[in-house]
Amino acid sequence: MKKIMTIVGARPQFIKAGIVSKMLRNSYEEVIVHTGQHYDKNMSDIFFNEMDIPKPNYNLGIGSGSHAQQTAKMISELEHVIVKENPDGVLLFGDTNSTLAAAIVAAKLLIPIFHVEAGVRTGIFDMPEEQNRIVTDHLSSICFAATIDDYDNLKKENLKDKSIVCGDVMYDALLFYSKKIDFEKGDYKLNPLFHSKFIDIKKGYILATSHRPENTDDKKNLMEILKALNEMRYPVIFAVHPRIKNIVKESYLEFQNIYFVEPLSYYETLYYTKMAKFIVTDSGGLHKEAYLHGVPCTTILRGGWQQTVNGNWNEFVRPIKKDIIQSVEKRIIDKGVKRCQFGDGNSCAKILEEINKFFYEVK
Ligand code: UD1
Repeated sequence: MKKIMTIVGARPQFIKAGIVSKMLRNSYEEVIVHTGQHYDKNMSDIFFNEMDIPKPNYNLGIGSGSHAQQTAKMISELEHVIVKENPDGVLLFGDTNSTLAAAIVAAKLLIPIFHVEAGVRTGIFDMPEEQNRIVTDHLSSICFAATIDDYDNLKKENLKDKSIVCGDVMYDALLFYSKKIDFEKGDYKLNPLFHSKFIDIKKGYILATSHRPENTDDKKNLMEILKALNEMRYPVIFAVHPRIKNIVKESYLEFQNIYFVEPLSYYETLYYTKMAKFIVTDSGGLHKEAYLHGVPCTTILRGGWQQTVNGNWNEFVRPIKKDIIQSVEKRIIDKGVKRCQFGDGNSCAKILEEINKFFYEVK
């Protein structure tokens, strides 16, 4: 049986790898490596437990650091495990530093790379994610594009021959795990971070998150976002990424309309996204999930999934209070027409088919 090494490190990758793994394990030996980029319980373990993802065979415990330090440590540690396990291929997801480090090591060891969520391009080269995804795509043996637009981006970079559109594994995951949730009953109890102001879910709420360095490293930008959320017509559930915990701790009393909670698990994210009146986020995953659930969204990001803007479901704005308020207010009632462009929920099967062809089809 051929051996595939799945390398993950950050929250969204656990979700994507989790759903692919279910199918992959039927025909391959899978070795899971967790770089340890995300390490807090509710940034990591909770996803493995809740989604029933096999425990990683290796956790490299790299943790946080500057981009260069973090990536360098990962490269060095990953080389040991990849050499030791000698997989027939490595499976990578998205565009985090873990993705980049794994791609560099596998390429140097001449091990085929299968990249899921390839071809995303924003043209913003100072975003670490943009740098990571370009390098990974160029080093990969197969680029799995979630959408036609992503495939077109790969074509423009002369990567057409090794690229394929397979839909979005996040959509597969959303469909699969949503079936396990009782949306009527909705018995998910949120874990408050700094105070326990009660939100009546039935009366409506907005779900918000922010973790992008451009919105959080500069306190002024984060304050603009929080001030905007504080003036929303519905109360706001704000899931706090650890990188902003200290800033929020200093100022949460100013924001009486916001209920600050611990980072959400995957089931909580599915539930609280689907039930929300509106989403405000800078997460690449959450604004797509909002679109897939049919919940309008305002995304405070310079580049993201442009397809979600169709039918007015999403709008990209800058971290400016009045722009955020305006964007939410003008769309909170007026819903667009949904057009799904993220596949048909069978992306994992298509990915597996292509990997099988790669290994077994006579060329
Ligand atoms: C990373 C990815 C980003 C992805 C996001 C998903 C990169 C460059 N960025 O961003 O693309 O959208 O994950 O969530 O790979 N921290 C903790 N505990 C943790 C994890 C992080 O306290 O378990 C804190 C540390 O202070 C750390 C900071 O958060 O320095 C940032 O973590 P990092 O993994 O570098 O980037 P994210 O913002 O999570």
